[in-house]
Amino acid sequence: MTYRFVPRYVKDIVPYQPGKPIEEVEREFGIPNSVKIASNENPLGVSPRAVKAVRRTLKGLNRYPDGSGFYLKNRLSAIHGTRPESIVLGNGSSELIELAIRTFMRPGDEAIISDPSFLIYSITVKASGGKPVIVKLLDDCSYDIDGIRNAVSSRTRLIFISNPNNPTGTIVPRKDYERLIKGTPGHVIVVDDAAYREFVRSDDYPDGIDYLKRKERNLVALRTFSKLYGLAGLRIGYGVTTPELAGYLERVRQPFNVNSLAQTAALAALDDRAFIEKTLKNNREGLDFLYGALDRMGVRFMPTQANFFLIKVAPSMTAKQAFAALLKRGVIVRDMTSYGLESYIRINVGTPYENRKFVRELKGIMQR
Ligand SMILES: Cc1ncc(COP(=O)(O)O)c(C=O)c1O
Repeated sequence: MTYRFVPRYVKDIVPYQPGKPIEEVEREFGIPNSVKIASNENPLGVSPRAVKAVRRTLKGLNRYPDGSGFYLKNRLSAIHGTRPESIVLGNGSSELIELAIRTFMRPGDEAIISDPSFLIYSITVKASGGKPVIVKLLDDCSYDIDGIRNAVSSRTRLIFISNPNNPTGTIVPRKDYERLIKGTPGHVIVVDDAAYREFVRSDDYPDGIDYLKRKERNLVALRTFSKLYGLAGLRIGYGVTTPELAGYLERVRQPFNVNSLAQTAALAALDDRAFIEKTLKNNREGLDFLYGALDRMGVRFMPTQANFFLIKVAPSMTAKQAFAALLKRGVIVRDMTSYGLESYIRINVGTPYENRKFVRELKGIMQR
């Protein structure tokens, strides 16, 4: 029997394929010591301070979490110089993406999404009966600001910016960002997803929260604890916006959307300077090592402002083939075919050991 009442727009969604978990690869291929550099996670593990805080919080798990996120919101508002009422916590920043769509879009409304960019934007817009309006990145992988502005219609409600952009690792520089923000009409909200912002080294990188302080009204700036802070498994992120827009997002979210372990872990991770510095250093040094090794192999790649980057495996092979061959050798990378990039894989910077293993195995498959 087939169930007939699922909306067409749900049936048409191509499911998101997350990076393969290490355990699955070890089970399927019987390869111990696999490395995963596919999901832009922190390769150094979890902030030790966060681990301690989680241990302390465990004994309170009989209680519901603090639905207002009081301590964390206060801490974040002190860090950002905003009011706690401007902050909305989420079960990962992905939940903020979903909340923005459910709060600000009706079925049939449009969201402008660049391509290639984070796939979750389109999937989540479609899941709500909205219409993704796709604007291709320019040839140099920068955002097509004019293209985005021209795509705005009376039905547009959201514009998604991934800055740095997943999967290209490129940023929207300050001038382009301002042109976009200033040129956006009042009925449209820009969602500035800065999941990888802490890794950026360019000094031409705009901070969305600064623009909110300068009285930009139609902006939601997203941040996550999943990347720099190593808390991807706990699921916590947040959005900063105006108190008015935050109030609408708050109405739509589940009252206990962020669990107590995530809240205390996030608070502790914010203070873990040693872990933060170690992570940033590992990323800088890892990128230098990987760029150098790929250059020597004559393999082309996209330099990044984040903790991941694209590598062109064509013409030797397709992304699918590279993914499968590396998997058999115990290295999990991301096949970019689902992003429409059949010639590219994406990797994140790993530990020095993981980076060396990746280079060794990539050489191995390319020489076959
Ligand atoms: C651009 C971008 N935004 C958001 C997320 C989701 O992060 P979170 O774990 O906070 O939901 C990711 C995760 O890969 C991402 O690449």
